Amino acid sequence: MPTKAGLSATVRAIVADAKGILAADETVSTITKRLTARGIESTADSRRAYRELLFSTPGIAGFIGGVILQDETIHQDSADGIPLADLLARRGIIPGIKVDAGVRPLAGAPGESVTEGLDGLRERLEQYRELGARFAKWRAVFVIRDGRPSATCIHANAHALARYAALCQEQGLVPIVEPEVLMEGAHAIERCEDVTGRVLQAVFTELFAARVALEGMLLKPNMVTGGLGSARHASVEEVAEATLRVLTRHVPPAVPGIVFLSGGQDAVLATEHLNALNALQGPKPWTLSFSFGRALQDEALEAWQGQREQVPAAQRAFLHRAWCDSAAVLGSYSA
Ligand code: 13P
Repeated sequence: MPTKAGLSATVRAIVADAKGILAADETVSTITKRLTARGIESTADSRRAYRELLFSTPGIAGFIGGVILQDETIHQDSADGIPLADLLARRGIIPGIKVDAGVRPLAGAPGESVTEGLDGLRERLEQYRELGARFAKWRAVFVIRDGRPSATCIHANAHALARYAALCQEQGLVPIVEPEVLMEGAHAIERCEDVTGRVLQAVFTELFAARVALEGMLLKPNMVTGGLGSARHASVEEVAEATLRVLTRHVPPAVPGIVFLSGGQDAVLATEHLNALNALQGPKPWTLSFSFGRALQDEALEAWQGQREQVPAAQRAFLHRAWCDSAAVLGSYSA
């Protein structure tokens, strides 16, 4: 079982050399929606083929240090019979696993949710470690609407994230702590900044209370943007400045890495935002990298179309976007 120093070493390896994380942990129902939207049938084998395409992309280990899997994928083998987690590890990419059980309506907080999955988590973490996982992920979601997120919702989710993170560290897995303020809504960027700050403050209060070692975790927050339906679109600079401001105010410097989710941003815009953040002057005590799902996969999925002969084109699209995102970690991306 790794020590606290071992957890920190895993964190450093994941985000070393301007690398980031591929979030490929969509549930069966979510990946099915993404596949069928492109006319691709979703079966256990088509899902395996798609994930294998991504994981075996030539050159990808130069830009991707970790991949988040989900339960079905961590039990699957490649076409050549190699467990997919081993396939990643052999390429020098660290396998991780989504361990939350998804969101459920939160009692007493109409229209809000709490992420479940703490029951039996210690045993599941043990099993996933046996299967090769070295880090885990738990996602809490917060909606912005009138009066929401409520203090009740923020507290319940922050507490669950902290209990999850403490269990992960006990079991020798690096926790990725993911509080996601959703982009859906017509709110201005200022409202997102306020809500993201309140959420992060609550999360770190709970992590402290749960005795989580900040040196052995990664934070996976949203970037601070306006709502998808907002009247005014914030510029790339505004997003970068608001995001850095909120992180500076609410994330302790002991956290080694912040790996953003993409949250429905266009792939190129997500790259530009990350690049602008890293190009900003001023103290940035954490590595600012990516843990994108859609923003890393959309172009590859579009190119693949479920066709074997399209695999090289899909892999080129994936490699290109991962290369751009890695350049953005260095603040040296240009279109
Ligand atoms: P997106 O980048 O598509 O938001 O996915 C990241 C993720 O892991 C969501 O939980």
